[in-house]
Amino acid sequence: MVRSNLRAGALATIAFVLSVFHSGAGLAASDDVIQKGEYLARAANCVACHSTYGGKAFAGGLLMALPFGLGEIYATNITPHPEAGIGNYTLEDFDAALRLGVAKDGHMLYPAMPYPSYAIMSEDDIAALYAYFMEAVEPVAEPTPPNEISWPLNMRWPLKVWNFFFSTTDRYTPDSTQSADWNRGAYLVQGAGHCGACHTPRGLLFQEASLDESEDAFLAGGTLDYWSAGNLRQDVNTGLGRWSQSDIVEFLKTGHNQFGSAFGTMTEVINNSTQYMTDADLNAMAVYLASLSPVLDDGPAYAYDSASEEELRAGNFERPGALVYMQKCMACHRADGQAAAPYIPPLAGNPAVMDPDPSSLINVTLNGTQRIVVGGVPDAYWMPRFRNGLSDQEVADVVTFIRRSWGNQAASVSAAQVAEIRAGTNAASDAVQILKMK
Ligand code: HEC
Ligand code: HEC
Ligand code: HEC
Repeated sequence: MVRSNLRAGALATIAFVLSVFHSGAGLAASDDVIQKGEYLARAANCVACHSTYGGKAFAGGLLMALPFGLGEIYATNITPHPEAGIGNYTLEDFDAALRLGVAKDGHMLYPAMPYPSYAIMSEDDIAALYAYFMEAVEPVAEPTPPNEISWPLNMRWPLKVWNFFFSTTDRYTPDSTQSADWNRGAYLVQGAGHCGACHTPRGLLFQEASLDESEDAFLAGGTLDYWSAGNLRQDVNTGLGRWSQSDIVEFLKTGHNQFGSAFGTMTEVINNSTQYMTDADLNAMAVYLASLSPVLDDGPAYAYDSASEEELRAGNFERPGALVYMQKCMACHRADGQAAAPYIPPLAGNPAVMDPDPSSLINVTLNGTQRIVVGGVPDAYWMPRFRNGLSDQEVADVVTFIRRSWGNQAASVSAAQVAEIRAGTNAASDAVQILKMK
C-alpha cells in the first residue's frame, strides 16, 4: 500500500517534470550551455556522419561500411524529432548512446558511432550537447532508412561482448603530473575529437589498439576506407617529430602548413570540426600530441637532397615515374618537390608522403581531393584526379618516385596495391561540399 502510493507519487512527479519540459518552461538550458553544446558538437564532428551533403543537418542518412564485409549501416537521424529522431531521449538515454553505445530501446550500436572515444566525456559536456540537440537543432521528420545487414550478421548481441573487452565506461580522469593544457588536449584528442578512430591502428576485431597514450600504438597511424591516417606521434620522418606546436595548430585551423595539406577523410575534419575550435583548445591538443613518444625507428631526420631536382631539370627521366611526374605533377608540385606551401603542398619532406602505408598517396593520385573550406571560403587550389589518365603501373611508378626523391625515403609501391585501391574507390566530387549545422 505504502509502496504503491510512493510509486503513484513518483509517476505523478515524472509526469509533472515531463509536462514542464514539453511546455518548454523551467528546464530550458541557458544560452551559454547551448553554445557550449554547439561547440562540442563541432569538436566531436557529429555532423560529418549524421548528415548528408545537401540534406538537413543531423537528419542522418550517411551510409557507412562495416568492417569484415559485415554490410553497411546508416548513421541515424539525431534531430529532436520524437519519432524519426531522438526527441524522446532523456539525458540519461543520450549519455548511454554517446558513451556506452546503447540506444534508447536497449539495442547496441555498432562502433561506427565512435562511442569508445566519447566514453570519457564529462557529465557537463554531455549535458551541454544534449541541451544543444534538444533545444537548438531543428527536428526533421525523415526516418533513417532500414539497414541492409542480413542474419546472422545483424545480431547486435556480440557487441556487448566487444564492449566488455574494448570499450570503457570511465570518464576522463586528469593526470595530476601533467599541465592543465596537456590534460585538456588529452581530453579533446581522445574524447570528442576521436582522432584515434582514424589515426590508431585497429586490432583483429576492429578495436582501436589503444584509446590513450598508455600504449605505443595510440595514434601511431591507421587505415580506414582506403585512407591512411598517418602517425601523429613524434616520429621524426613519418610522424610529427619535425612539426612545432604552432605547425600543428595551423594545420588543424586552416588545413595547411609548411609540411603539407589536409586531404582524404582529414578534409572533413578540417571543414566541419577543428577550424571551429578555439586557439586555446587547438594549442592544448598540440601540447598533448607533442608529448607522444616516437615508436618507429625512422631516423635520421629528413634533409633536402637536390639530386632529383637536377635530374628533372636535366631531362633525365630514366627512373621509373620521373616522366609521369614531369608530365602530370611538376606544374604544381615543381621540380624541387617543394611546390608553393601552404597553398600547394610540398611533397619533399612531407610526412604523409613518407607514410609506411602508401594508401593515401595512391588514393589521392587516383581520385584527387575535395575542397578544403575554411571560414566559408573554398580553396583556390585542389588536386586533380588521374584515375582515367594513368595505368596502375604508372600510378605505382609516380608514387614510388615521389617517395624516393628530394631526400624522401619510403618503400616502393606496386601496381597490385594501386589496382586494389582503384577497385575500392571513386573519384572525389568536383562540387564544393559543405555540411551545415544550421
Ligand atoms: C564516425 C561517424 C559518427 C560520428 C562522428 C557520430 N556518430 Fe552517432 N552514430 C553513427 C552511426 C553509424 C550510428 C548508428 C549505429 C547503429 O545503428 O548501430 C550512430 C548512432 C547514434 C545515436 C543512436 C541513435 C538511435 O536511436 O539509434 C545517437 C544518439 C548518436 N549517434 C549521436 C551522436 C552525436 C551526438 C554525435 C556527436 C557528439 C555523434 N553521434 C557522432 C555514426 C557517428
Ligand atoms: C593542378 C595542380 C596539381 C597537380 C597537376 C598535381 N597536384 Fe598533387 N596536389 C595539389 C594540391 C593543391 C594539393 C593539396 C590538396 C588539398 O589541399 O587538399 C595536392 C596534394 C597532393 C598530395 C598530398 C600531399 C598533401 O600534403 O596534401 C600528393 C601525394 C600529391 N598531390 C601528389 C601528386 C602527384 C603524384 C601528381 C601527379 C600525378 C600531382 N599531385 C599533381 C595540386 C596538384
Ligand atoms: C575520419 C578520419 C580522421 C579523423 C577522425 C582524424 N583524422 Fe587526421 N588525418 C586523416 C587522414 C586520412 C590523414 C592523411 C591525409 C592528410 O595528411 O591530410 C590525416 C592527417 C592528419 C594530420 C597530418 C599528418 C601528416 O603526416 O601530414 C594531422 C596533424 C592530423 N590528421 C591530426 C588529426 C587530429 C588532431 C585529429 C582529431 C582532432 C584527427 N586528425 C582526426 C584522417 C582523420
